[in-house]
This record gives sequence, structure tokens and C-alpha cells, in this order.
Amino acid sequence: MSKKVFIIGGARPNFVKIAPLTKQLDVNRIEYRLVHTGQHYDYNMSKIFFEELNIPKPDIFLDAGSGSHASQTAKIMIEFEKVIINEKPNLVVVVGDVNSTIACALVAKKLFIDVAHVEAGLRSHDMRMPEEINRILTDRISDLLFTTEKSAEINLRKEGINRKKIYFVGNIMIDTLITNLDKSKNLEFNKKFNLEKGTYAIITMHRPSNVDDIEDLSKTADIINLLQEKIKIIFPIHPRTKINLEKYNLIDKMNKQNIILTEPLGYIEFLSLMMNSKFILTDSGGIQEEASFLKVPILTMRENTERPITIKRGTNTLIGTDINKLRIYVDKILSNSYKKGKNMDKWDGKTAERIVSILKNKYL
Ligand code: UD1
Repeated sequence: MSKKVFIIGGARPNFVKIAPLTKQLDVNRIEYRLVHTGQHYDYNMSKIFFEELNIPKPDIFLDAGSGSHASQTAKIMIEFEKVIINEKPNLVVVVGDVNSTIACALVAKKLFIDVAHVEAGLRSHDMRMPEEINRILTDRISDLLFTTEKSAEINLRKEGINRKKIYFVGNIMIDTLITNLDKSKNLEFNKKFNLEKGTYAIITMHRPSNVDDIEDLSKTADIINLLQEKIKIIFPIHPRTKINLEKYNLIDKMNKQNIILTEPLGYIEFLSLMMNSKFILTDSGGIQEEASFLKVPILTMRENTERPITIKRGTNTLIGTDINKLRIYVDKILSNSYKKGKNMDKWDGKTAERIVSILKNKYL
């Protein structure tokens, strides 16, 4: 009897990672069931990614929705447990570091079902990040660990994970990016906002440490205001950030002369904006990788990153919320003296192929 594989997606960055995986499983005629936990549920946080990236309709929808960490994680666990007791998969594949990732991994493992983790081993060494807790715990109970960069294997080995479980396969988000490069290029989404190539910056912000309390959020707003004096900005606002900006009356405080505020964008639209931008200011994990691959300068508003290769070889610099650092690096970028970035090993569009071939040879 062939083994049954479950693929888990819950939040926006997960969808970008499962798209190439489902495609490769289809190519190899390997049966799988796609589970959407419902962690993200707005059209432009979820469904648009399924449409644009041709991800099959989920077989199972857990409808977990928003909530505190405990209630969201618990809801996913309770619903997922019912499903797997019923369906008895042999392998559960989780991706990334969101609450859906740890919730489903934990349920599977306690029912003696093997777990594969795509994007294993990344560490910010900052236990105040919910994602760091999710990563460490998921890796600890995973049977197969697929890594994106060499530092990840070093982290896992330090934590005592058996080397035989670890596979350096490259970056699956870059598979999706490469697949959609031409479409995004042709779209020239920047023109929709009358923005010429290379004349604008993008901001994205959603980490609790930057947007949850009024002090941090005001600092973020100050940084945005400073940036507007230097360059035109487009800011697609994540729901979490929007709720807080409104709560603390900061939307009005931001000088809106040189800033375009939009809803969260679809994948192709955002990729199109990124590739034509002068630089990006963000606190996202995935965008550090995407921008580095595209060789677009990226300034990250965090004190640490779990993706050190984007600093060593990519176009990323950590600036935290230090306005002076922001000034220095923005000036470097605007005067074209910022670092250029190099290619990354195995960020080549073939990561899903490597993962599925390992699953076939070693597992299925
Ligand atoms: C989650 C991930 C984060 C990832 C991010 C990408 C965790 C711990 N965090 O953070 O790692 O970088 O997704 O976006 O899993 N909301 C909506 N509509 C939606 C989804 C959320 O309005 O479709 C609002 C809700 O008010 C919700 C808030 O956004 O409470 C936050 O959503 P949540 O999934 O809890 O965390 P994110 O901040 O999106």
C-alpha cells in the first residue's frame, strides 16, 4: 500500500513554500492530502496565493482563525488530531515557523506519525520571537529536516540532531520566485501606482516587536516618516499592523505625502514591486531571502536574523530601529555604493525536486 502524505499550510509564507512541493508531488504521481489550518483566512492573506501559485484546493480546512498564541495553536491541534486519527497518514510535511507548523508537527508526532520539516535549522537565537520557539520545537521532533543554508545544519548539529536526518536541499521559496519571475516582470505592478523602476522603496512590517505596543509602533512610524523625506514609499499593510496603527491613531500621524498605503498584495504583484524597487525596509524573514536573490538592497528592522546567509552573501543589513543606521544605509543605497550580493548555493529553483526525490528514495 502506498504511504499517505499530508502537506500543511496555514499562513501566507507557508503557501509560497507548499506551492512547488504540491507541483513536484503531482509530477511524481505521489498522492497527498493538502491541509489548510485556516490561520490566515482573508482573501489577500490566503486564497489569492492559491489562485496565483496554482496550489490545489485544500482537501481539509481546519478553520482555526486568529486568537492568542495558545488558543490558535490549541485550536489547530484539536482539529488536526481529529483529522489524522481518521485518515492515518504516514508522513506529515510542515514548512516554515508559524503556529500551524508546530501545532501540526506536535499532533502528528504524538500519534507516532513521522514529521518532515521544510526550512529546518534556522535560528535567530531570540526566544522572544514566537517563530524561534516554533522552529526549535518543530526541529526537535522532526524525522526529516530539510535546510536552506549551511548555518542551519550547524545549528541543528549543535542541538544534537542526528546528521542522518538533515538534508541541505536549498530554498523552496526561491523555487516559487523563479517560477513566477517572468509573469512578475511583465506585470510592472509599480506602474499601477505611477512609480518608475528604481525610484521607490517598499516597507513591510508585521513583527510583534515592531508593531504591537505603542512605543515600538511610534518608532516604526518615525522611521517611515524619515524615509519619506528621501524617497517615495509604498507600504502594503499587514492586518496586524493596520489594526494597531488605527488603534493608536498613527495612520494620520504618518505624513502621507510621499507614501502609498495599500492592502496586503498578492504574490505576483508584490514580487513585481520588489524587483523594480530601489530598496526594501522590512521585518519579514522570507523577504530578506527574496530580496537577496533578486539582488535588491534590503534593510531589516530587527536586531537579529535567522537567515545569516542573507547578510553574508545577500543584500541584507540589520538596522534594528536605529534611525542613524537607517540614514547611513539609505544614503549608501541612494548613492549606489551599497553591497551588491552574491548567488546562494542551491537557491536554484530545484529545491522541491530534491525534497521529493529524497522522500521517494528514503521514505515513500
Ligand atoms: C504569522 C506568523 C509569522 C509570519 C506571518 C506572515 C506565527 C506565530 N506568526 O504572523 O511568523 O511571518 O504570519 O504574515 O504564526 N489577521 C487578519 N486576517 C488574516 C490573518 C490575520 O485580519 O487573514 C489578523 C488578525 O487580527 C490576527 C492578526 O492578523 O490576530 C495576526 O495574525 P496571526 O496569524 O496570529 O499572526 P501574524 O502576525 O500574521
